[in-house]
Amino acid sequence: MNFTEMSHIKVAEALGGRKLRFAVDATLGRGRDALFAMSLLGGGGELFGFDVQARAIEESRRLFESKGVAVSTEDFPVDGARAKFFLASHADMETLLPERARGKIGAAFFNLGWLPASDKSVVTSAAGTVAALEALARVCDPAGCVVSVLCYRGHAGGEEEFCAVRDFFARGGFGYEMSADWPNPLSPVLVFAKLNFA
Ligand SMILES: C[S@@+](CC[C@H](N)C(=O)[O-])C[C@H]1O[C@@H](n2cnc3c(N)ncnc32)[C@H](O)[C@@H]1O
Repeated sequence: MNFTEMSHIKVAEALGGRKLRFAVDATLGRGRDALFAMSLLGGGGELFGFDVQARAIEESRRLFESKGVAVSTEDFPVDGARAKFFLASHADMETLLPERARGKIGAAFFNLGWLPASDKSVVTSAAGTVAALEALARVCDPAGCVVSVLCYRGHAGGEEEFCAVRDFFARGGFGYEMSADWPNPLSPVLVFAKLNFA
């Protein structure tokens, strides 16, 4: 099982079949995590996705549409779409999320790093990711929220970003656990956090 699959399994297990009203994919990339997040929503549930690359927004939109899921973006507004993608940093999620979703986000995915086979200079950062986690903590559902953060330590800045994520959760609020191939110092680390979920 790879770390992405592990992330999906842990989130699904934590939800135990409960369906969500709102979820966030903080790093859309090619849209695979976001598509999984859609499967966690109940009828009328909504997904909000963020990425700083137009290419990621476009690829994710195409993936969703190939599965028959309409997506609304600033360039292609679609009335009633249950998925809305923002060409913006996840650090800005609090201001971009619609009022109805603030304080009600039940799950969030962060798959850090860069878009594979793409511009490696566009990469998540320790400061930006912590700012996004702080924003998420303000918009998550106090009755229950699960957060999956997949950190990659093998690139410049990756270890620092992982430490910043770990330190964020160590400060409290969320309960969390970490999974990695620990003997390998370059192994990805999945940080899985829960707020008020049994
Ligand atoms: C590893 S990829 C995500 C993979 C994706 N979740 C999937 O299922 O394909 C990381 C993504 O984070 C994006 N990214 C980098 N900095 C960002 C930021 N500040 N806010 C949102 N996305 C960012 C990159 O453009 C890239 O598409």
